[in-house]
Parts: sequence; C-alpha cells; structure tokens
Amino acid sequence: MDGYLAARAGRDRARGLAEDRVKRRALVDGGIAAVAIGGAGLLTGSLTRTFGRGGKSAAKQSAAPVSSAPAPAGPAPSVPAASVPVGGSAQVKDPATGDAVYIVQPKAGQYCGLSSVCTHSGCAVDAPKNGQLYCPCHGSRFDAATGAVVNGPAVKPLPRYGVTKDGDQLKLGPLQS
Ligand code: FES
Repeated sequence: MDGYLAARAGRDRARGLAEDRVKRRALVDGGIAAVAIGGAGLLTGSLTRTFGRGGKSAAKQSAAPVSSAPAPAGPAPSVPAASVPVGGSAQVKDPATGDAVYIVQPKAGQYCGLSSVCTHSGCAVDAPKNGQLYCPCHGSRFDAATGAVVNGPAVKPLPRYGVTKDGDQLKLGPLQS
C-alpha cells in the first residue's frame, strides 16, 4: 500500500501537481484504504461470530447445554462415625456442588460439616488440625468448631452444614450458612 501511494505521489509531482495537493491526495487515499481494510476486517469478524467458522462448530454450539441449574442432589453422603474422632475429621462431597466438606467432631458427640472452600479466594483449606483449618494459599485460619475466621485475610466464615448421626453413620445435612 505504501509503495502504491509513493509511486502515485511521484507521478503527481511529475505531472506538476503542487506539493500540498500531492500530500493531501496521499492522505485521503491512505485513509480510504485504511477504512476499507478495517471495514473488511470488522465484517469478516462479524460474519464469523454470526455463522461460526464451519458447520461442525455451529453444530457444537447448538448442542451445548443451555441450563446452568445445579446438578440434582443424590443421597446424603455419609461416613462411619468411628472415622471422625474428637478433633478429627472425615471428608465427603457436597452432592449439589461437588465441593469437599469436612465432617468434624470438635467436642464429644457434637458434629457439623465445614466447607473446604476458603472464603478468601476459593483455595482448598487443609483438614482440621489443632482446632483450626488452615488455608495454604494466603494463610487464613478458621475455627474447626464453628468455621469462624481466626486469622485473615479471609473475612467470612467457612459455610457450615448440618450433620446427623444415624446408627453408626454420620450423614451430611443441608447447608446452614
Ligand atoms: Fe484462602 Fe486466600 S484463598 S487465604
């Protein structure tokens, strides 16, 4: 494009066109070319977005799921009560989200579930140890009995779940907070 404009400017000068007219023609023609190239690019991008790059991708798009509804909850996850000693924990999955949950027994006969997803930025917190759950990403600490923040940067407690004892099994209940 530059070569074409330079050649034409040379011809214009040879024809005796004033220098300011030579420059103006080059500016106008260069601008028109830029607008034409930009417009073609926009049109191409628009058509690609509208119709896709090929039949296969268009077919894939129409087959994509349209619902973002949560997965149906299955039976309540459970663990043997013997696997959760006082101060210890066992891990299950929230059937609705797939997130890991620690079933804990902070005091004898007292059970609850604590989400393993750190409320700061979503890292997985470690299993309870010495009465706390530690997040290795930025150092937040949570109380293993309540999920409350002991040490930031997290400011929100870990979500809590109910837990019921059914015979020798501990069953994860609904999310409480
Ligand atoms: Fe847990 Fe930052 S993600 S402290």
